[in-house]
Amino acid sequence: MNIILLGAPGAGKGTQAETLVKDFNLKHISTGDILREEVKKGSPVGLEAKEYMDKGLLVPDEVVIKLVAGAISGFGSRQGFLLDGFPRNENQAKMLEEKLCLVNRSINRVIYLKVSKEVVISRLSGRRICKDCGAVYHLKNIPPKKEGICDKCSGVLYQREDDSEKTVLNRLEVYKKETGGLINYYKDKNLLSEVDGDLAQEGTYALMLKEINNNCE
Ligand code: AP5
Repeated sequence: MNIILLGAPGAGKGTQAETLVKDFNLKHISTGDILREEVKKGSPVGLEAKEYMDKGLLVPDEVVIKLVAGAISGFGSRQGFLLDGFPRNENQAKMLEEKLCLVNRSINRVIYLKVSKEVVISRLSGRRICKDCGAVYHLKNIPPKKEGICDKCSGVLYQREDDSEKTVLNRLEVYKKETGGLINYYKDKNLLSEVDGDLAQEGTYALMLKEINNNCE
C-alpha cells in the first residue's frame, strides 16, 4: 500500500504518519525531514534548500524529486510507503508518477487532512521537537511530561526556525497557491479521501483508517 498524506503546514501529517507507518509497516518518506537532515549535514543540497526553507518557500522541484526517487529506490519493492509533504505541486505529482511507473509502482490513496487556519496557527506556534530523536510535541495539545524535555529519550526540545509567525503565514500562502490545486488533481483521479484534521489526534486517525480500509485492498 502506497499512500500520500496531503495537507497544510501543521495539519498533522507528521503526527499521523508516525502511527500509520507502524500500523501498516510502511516506509515513511518526509521531504521536510530529509531536507532538514541535509541542512544539518551542511551538504550542498542542504545549503541550497535552507535558503528556501527559511523563507517558507518551496525548494526547487528537481532537488526534491531526486531525494524522493533515491528514498523510494532505497528499500525493497514489497514494502509500501507513505509520502508526507510530497508532492507539493502538479509538476512534482507528475514527476512522481513517472518515477513510480519505472519501478512498477503506483499510489493507492491520497489522504487529505483538512484543517482550519486557526488550528494550524495554534498548532505550529506550540510545536516543539526533540533535538535528539525528532519526536514531535505540542505545548498544550500533546505536552511532554517534563517541560522542555523529550519523554522518549530525555533530549532537549526546540522550536523549528520556520515556525516563527512571519514564516508560518508565508508557508500558508505558498500552500494555498502551489499545493491547494493537488486536491482537485487527485479528486479527478478518484484517489482522494478528505478527512477532518481539526479533531484530536485519535479522532482524525480513526477517520483515516476508515478511508484506507474502504479504499485500499
Ligand atoms: P515540512 O516539514 O513538510 O513542513 P509542512 O508541510 O509545512 O508541515 P509541517 O511539518 O509543518 O506540519 P505537519 O502537517 O507535519 O504537522 P505536525 O504533525 O508536525 O516542510 C518544511 C519545508 O521544507 C517547506 O516549507 C519547504 O521549504 C520544504 N519542502 C518540504 N517538502 C517539499 C517539497 N515536496 N517541495 C518543495 N519544498 C519542500 O503537527 C503540528 C503540531 O500540531 C505538532 O506540535 C503536533 O504535536 C500538533 N498536532 C498534530 N496533530 C494534532 C491533533 N490532531 N490535535 C492536536 N494537536 C496536533
